[in-house]
Amino acid sequence: MTPFDPASVRSRFPGLYTTWALFDNAGGTVPCHGVIERVHAYLSGPMVQHGASYAVSVRAVEAVEQGRAAMASLMGAQPDEVVLGPSSTALLGRLAATLAPQLGPGDEVVVTNLDHESNVGCWRRLAEERGATVREWTFDADSLALTLEGLEAVLSEDTKIVAFGHVSNLIGQIHDAGALCARIRAAGALSIVDGVAYAPHRRPDVRQFGCDAYVFSTYKVFGPHQSVLWIDPRVELGSVNHFFVEGRPGTLEPGGVVHELVAGLPGMVEYLSSLGEGDDEEARLDSAFRAIAEVESSLAAPLLGFLAEQPSLKVLGPASADAALRVPTVSFVVDDRAASALPPLLDEREVAIRWGHFYAYRAARDLGLLESDGVVRASLVHYNTPEEVERLIDGLAAVL
Ligand SMILES: Cc1ncc(COP(=O)(O)O)c(C=O)c1O
Repeated sequence: MTPFDPASVRSRFPGLYTTWALFDNAGGTVPCHGVIERVHAYLSGPMVQHGASYAVSVRAVEAVEQGRAAMASLMGAQPDEVVLGPSSTALLGRLAATLAPQLGPGDEVVVTNLDHESNVGCWRRLAEERGATVREWTFDADSLALTLEGLEAVLSEDTKIVAFGHVSNLIGQIHDAGALCARIRAAGALSIVDGVAYAPHRRPDVRQFGCDAYVFSTYKVFGPHQSVLWIDPRVELGSVNHFFVEGRPGTLEPGGVVHELVAGLPGMVEYLSSLGEGDDEEARLDSAFRAIAEVESSLAAPLLGFLAEQPSLKVLGPASADAALRVPTVSFVVDDRAASALPPLLDEREVAIRWGHFYAYRAARDLGLLESDGVVRASLVHYNTPEEVERLIDGLAAVL
């Protein structure tokens, strides 16, 4: 397999025609050209109401349904299993609301102290509203990862829901979602997986995970500011829509979807599959994500190597760039310096990194990092180049 050519990759992203080296990709990636083109085409055409019999209405519906179908094919799912919405936070909130009637006193809900609050807060609030008990699955003190042992410690026969992240947006380690979800299912609970920090780097193919629900944000995967939630059709749910709207995904899409942005989604899949090889889209997507993993690992290796040599600094999560272990979301802390001190020093070199708790507030708090403004994070994706990584390393070397 030949990983793709960086120049041709970058030519697909108008947002990369900049002198800045963008390393805040875990916050958001720039959209690829195919997405921009489709959003533009949708907005430039007759903007008509959906659901009527006239031809332009039918075509508008088709453009939006192609967006849903594209997300389904990326996730190895069926289109009606895919719910679309403005953000992962919003979709997880809707999912929690539709599960409410199934939860009551005596039931337990498991959340972590590692993850983005998006997949924590809504479950904590739900448990509180329904009189259920919250149990916290804490990250391992050495590896900072979520482990099977940690899960065992909080599972019980009363567990109904377990919410966790496939990858932490702070530490970048890939959790074994398959093993964790299998254990959760064996306990008779639902697994709700936050794939937001995973999907830009590995294919979010739900067939591999055995979860009950899986969410990711398309604006972090080269797409528009939208989000996708896959739910196993076997999971029974209520509705957050009008009483007469029946069936999924409609019951979880009150007010419908943002037509023009959803119409842009096929551009993501077209782009991603163009990075791979194979006879059909399925094979090309798999091969594209293998190539992405390879490229990302070779980009992260020199950065992690440099960071490991700095005595004053500690990287959170795996020190190795091994693609089986981590994605290239790299966070670190520096002795006796607030995280907020470093990123502005790189601004003049036009190297964009950032600091903070990144909404993984509980993790930053439990690591004792809130007082020092969290972590410094450089998050890479496959469109970054070795030259940009060199600029990042040079910039850090100058200010450390
Ligand atoms: C791991 C993770 N989960 C969830 C979210 C929230 O996504 P959204 O902005 O789509 O609500 C983020 C956003 O940074 C994230 O990094």
